[in-house]
Amino acid sequence: MDLKHTAHLKGTISVPGDKSISHRAIMFGAISEGTTEITNFLQGADCLSTISCFREMGISIENRAGRVTVHGKGLHGLQKPGKMLDAGNSGTTTRLISGILAGQPFSSELNGDASIQKRPMKRILTPLSAMGANVQSIKNNGCAPLAFSPAPLHGISYPSPVASAQVKSCILLAGLYADGTTSVTEPRLSRNHTELMLSAFGAEITADGTTVSILPQPRLTGLSVTVPGDISSAAYFIAAGLLVKDAEILIQNVGINPTRDGILKIACAMGGRIEKLNERTVSGEPVCDLLVTSSPLHGTTVGGDVIPSLIDEIPIIAVLAAFAEGTTVIQDAAELKVKESDRIFTTTDNLRRMGAAVQPTADGMIIEGNPDALHGTDFESYGDHRIAMSFAVAALAIQDNCTMRNAECVRISYPDFYDELAGLSV
Ligand code: S3P
Repeated sequence: MDLKHTAHLKGTISVPGDKSISHRAIMFGAISEGTTEITNFLQGADCLSTISCFREMGISIENRAGRVTVHGKGLHGLQKPGKMLDAGNSGTTTRLISGILAGQPFSSELNGDASIQKRPMKRILTPLSAMGANVQSIKNNGCAPLAFSPAPLHGISYPSPVASAQVKSCILLAGLYADGTTSVTEPRLSRNHTELMLSAFGAEITADGTTVSILPQPRLTGLSVTVPGDISSAAYFIAAGLLVKDAEILIQNVGINPTRDGILKIACAMGGRIEKLNERTVSGEPVCDLLVTSSPLHGTTVGGDVIPSLIDEIPIIAVLAAFAEGTTVIQDAAELKVKESDRIFTTTDNLRRMGAAVQPTADGMIIEGNPDALHGTDFESYGDHRIAMSFAVAALAIQDNCTMRNAECVRISYPDFYDELAGLSV
C-alpha cells in the first residue's frame, strides 16, 4: 500500500469501540441469564472470532452493524462445541475463553492462527492447572492448540509473574466455576475492564491494590453495554495530530480508564497538546473527547507502573520518539516480545527502515530522536495491526512517500483505519 506525506490534518473522528470491552461484553453476556445488548461493538476480526466461538457453543448472537444482541444461557448453559474453537489472531479470545472452558462439564479444543500458536499459554495453563483444571497444550509446547476436559475447580490465591489482564481475567473467569474464593495478585496493575464489567453483570468481585478476588457465582444477569471508543485506536490519531505540521483533530468518545490512559500521560510528558473535553461515564467506564493539536515533542522515559496502561501503544510511542528532540528510553516492557509480533524487533526494524537511530534492549528500546534524519521507506507490518497503523502514521510526517507491506492486517482492530486517516487530510 502507498502512504503519502501530509502537511495538514483537520477534522472530527470517532474511533471504533474498545476491543477489550467488546470481547468481554460477548463473553460475559453468553454466560449470563437473559439478553445482553451491546452498542458500538467493535466489528474487528478479533471480536468476530469471540462471537464465532460462542455461537459454536450454542449461544445465539445477532450482529447488526455496531449493535449486537447476545442471548445468554447462564453460567451452565454453554454446549459442547461440534468442532475445534478458532480464536483466529486473538490472544484475548484464547486466554479469556480458556478460563470459561476450564469450568465446563464438556471437553473442548481451542486453536488460533499461526501467530496465536506461537504465543505463550503456560501463563494460563499453570494457574488453571493449580485450580484443578484438566487442560493441556496438545503439542506439549506451552502454546495453542489447547485441550480441555471436565474437572472440578478449586479457588486459589495466585501471584501472577506477569502484569497481564488476559491472565488475570482467565483466572477470574475460572473462579466463577470454583469451589471457593479465587484471588490474583499482579506485579503491576493491568487493565481492569473485567473487574468493572463482571461486577455489573452481578459477580462478587473485589479489588484491593493489585489483588482481585472473585467468589464462585450462582448466576450472572445480562445487561446493556455501551462500548466506549478504543483509546488504543485513538492513539494513532493522537500521534498523527501531534506529528503533522498543521493539525487539529477532535477524537470523540474515547475511553480513558486510568488502567489504559498511559498514552495520554506519555504524549503530554513529551510536550503533546491534548485537551480532555466533556468527561463523562459510559457503562461504568470513564470517557471523554480529545482535542489534539500539532506539537513540538521532546524525549522521555517510559517504564515502571505505567507500562501495562500503554502496552499496546508502545509502537506508536516509539514513532513519536523518533520525531522528538532528544532521547526516549522505553524499559520494563519485555511483554512486547510476546504480542501479535515481537514488537521490540518489529518496531525497531521499521524505525531503522525510516532512518531513526534506535537500539533494541532486553525489555524495550532506546530511541535518539532526529526528525531531519528520517526518510521514505518500505515498511513491513509483519502481519501485526498495531505495527501497520503506527508506521502508517509515521509515513504522514515523513517528507517522502512510503509503502506498507501486509497493510490489510488492520482489520484485526480497525477495519476502516486507512480511509478514516485519509479523510482527515486536507
Ligand atoms: C488485553 C490485554 C493486553 C493487551 C491486549 C488486550 C485484554 O494483553 O495487550 O491487546 O483485553 O485483556 P496482556 O493482558 O496479555 O498484557
